Amino acid sequence: MKVIAITGGGAGIGRGIAWHFARAGWAVSITDADRQAGKECLEVMRAAGTKAIFVPGDVSKPGDMERWLKATKAELGCPDVLVNNAGIEIRKDVFKLSIAEFDKVIAVNLRGTFICSQAVAKMMARRGPKNATERGTIINLASTRAFMSEAGTEGYTASKGGIVALTHGMAISLAPHRIRVNAIAPGWIETADWQKASKAKNLHHSKADREQHLVGRVGVPEDVAKACQFIAEDAGFMTGQTLTLDGGMTVKMIYA
Ligand SMILES: NC(=O)c1ccc[n+]([C@@H]2O[C@H](COP(=O)([O-])OP(=O)(O)OC[C@H]3O[C@@H](n4cnc5c(N)ncnc54)[C@H](O)[C@@H]3O)[C@@H](O)[C@H]2O)c1
Repeated sequence: MKVIAITGGGAGIGRGIAWHFARAGWAVSITDADRQAGKECLEVMRAAGTKAIFVPGDVSKPGDMERWLKATKAELGCPDVLVNNAGIEIRKDVFKLSIAEFDKVIAVNLRGTFICSQAVAKMMARRGPKNATERGTIINLASTRAFMSEAGTEGYTASKGGIVALTHGMAISLAPHRIRVNAIAPGWIETADWQKASKAKNLHHSKADREQHLVGRVGVPEDVAKACQFIAEDAGFMTGQTLTLDGGMTVKMIYA
């Protein structure tokens, strides 16, 4: 049975990815800083018969992530796929954003991605025969905000741009170990109905919101999960890349 490990798997896109792979017959390991979200996601997967574990933890803390990945290996086996999904955003006027807030966003989004990737790569590199064609895959959640911005999003955009660069950097370093590293850059993904029970909301899209996408709708976590499955299972010739997944929003030229 294949094993997927997902950070921030308790809610939002991470929960959507966990559920998608659970239904596809994978064993699923999630970590999340929010215990309630993680427990709820675990209960749903186990109720459906999935082999799954949840270990609470903060991706910016190396000790937490080592504990999570060790438990994953012990209970489910070495992950075949790691999805670095956990992320936060602090939106604030550029003159008001404190350095501590900037650091916090970088620590979770960028540092956390490196911490988990390095830890899982150490495990992946040690398995399989010497001539294995593939020992594992790492998928990082970037964002279209790595390439374009709104005002007041400096920490977030910098972290996502860093993730795109980290993706090709680690793809090169890990290639000799037969580990592929790719990123997905989603646009607008609606997660309101994938939050923990106490935070779940109704979707609230206007017609204009939908129509600003070339495909005529906002994205859903399942879109990201399907892209993860493609990268994990069908994209053996793809590494170091960032796949834009935004319903065409960022190819539209705007004259104002
Ligand atoms: N939703 C979107 O439109 C969108 C678009 C582009 C990129 N993304 C990226 O996709 C990822 C998921 O986004 P989302 O919208 O599902 O977010 P979300 O806030 O709905 O869920 C994020 C999950 O990560 C967890 N988390 C936060 N900080 C953590 C930490 N330090 N350690 C462990 N877990 C932590 C949260 O508890 C939560 O369960 C993020 O990296 C985000 O930047 C989202």
